[in-house]
Amino acid sequence: MSDFISGFWSHYVTFISLASIAACALLLWITNRARAPIGGDNTTGHVWDEDLREMNNPLPRWWVGLFVLTIVFALGYLVAYPGLGSMQGQLGWSTAGEYRKDMAKAEAELAPVYAKYTAMPAEQMAGDPQAMAIGERLFLNNCAQCHGSDARGSKGFPNLTDADWLHGGEPAKIQETITLGRTGVMPPMAAAVGSPEDVKNVANYVLSLSGSPHDSVRAGLGKSKFTACAACHGMTGGGNPMLGAPNLSDRVWLHGYGQDAIVSIINTGKTNQMPAQQGRLTEAQIQVLSAYVWGLSNKAQSAPR
Ligand code: HEC
Ligand code: HEC
Repeated sequence: MSDFISGFWSHYVTFISLASIAACALLLWITNRARAPIGGDNTTGHVWDEDLREMNNPLPRWWVGLFVLTIVFALGYLVAYPGLGSMQGQLGWSTAGEYRKDMAKAEAELAPVYAKYTAMPAEQMAGDPQAMAIGERLFLNNCAQCHGSDARGSKGFPNLTDADWLHGGEPAKIQETITLGRTGVMPPMAAAVGSPEDVKNVANYVLSLSGSPHDSVRAGLGKSKFTACAACHGMTGGGNPMLGAPNLSDRVWLHGYGQDAIVSIINTGKTNQMPAQQGRLTEAQIQVLSAYVWGLSNKAQSAPR
């Protein structure tokens, strides 16, 4: 309810809730008072199917009692719990509060399990089957929607199981990536490169760096234009983990392969973000995840899965 900018809907809901309770009470009161005209035999005079007559007995006491209890309960409930528009309720209960309480309890219960691992270097943790089982579950719940359940990524989302890193693959770097997030920014470069032909030429030069199929005449013409790119990607296209600039001389393509994909990224640039997990996950969880991710590309040292 707090998402609404005016109090209107809150009042609206409050009014409808209270009005329907009042209407129930009124109905009860009226039916209790009203008396149908009675013939001498305590029937209303209505007859169906020749001899089926309607008796005029009062509502059973226990039934009226239950109805009154329901109304009292409803009012008591609405005082104690949130239910009337955006009113909080006297007990201060909320679903969000309940969730925080459960999370705090779970964290307290898990603390001893994690304590064992937070003291361990990542390389050693990656060899511990229990830690890696925890890491895998954390990954599936928090990371798989972007990086894939096998962590191999997809277009725009890096593969975490290879040895190719945008931001560095040492455990400390991985932990920094997960904790603080990363934003990779490749600015639109077409203006710095020159004409559309120049852009095509430099794209072919980029393809030549990894020995990918390319037009060698265009690559030759594009080589000198690559100086505009070297500040970030390096003179030989080896990349720069400080800037998150990918290695262009391997055959790993985050944003698609071939002349057209490269021309497009030179023309429009690319901003790509890994969301920070600090605050979403605990420090201990991030530590276990870092070891897990590190283990994905360092299979020799990691626990068999
Ligand atoms: C909303 C999508 C999204 C989620 C969720 C996400 N990531 Fe990422 N992640 C990305 C993107 C996009 C990048 C690439 C950032 C860039 O281009 O610089 C990235 C980059 C990374 C990198 C750096 C890779 C490299 O080559 O340096 C690591 C490590 C990583 N993510 C781990 C994780 C882990 C662990 C989780 C789960 C806690 C996670 N990510 C959750 C989108 C996501
Ligand atoms: C300011 C630094 C910067 C400059 C200058 C720059 N790039 Fe980039 N480039 C990046 C970053 C950062 C990324 C990664 C974006 C991301 O995180 O997804 C990138 C990504 C790319 C990619 C995608 C790689 C892949 O794996 O799919 C190509 C291709 C590329 N750049 C080519 C070039 C070319 C060609 C030039 C020169 C015309 C150039 N870049 C200039 C920073 C730069």
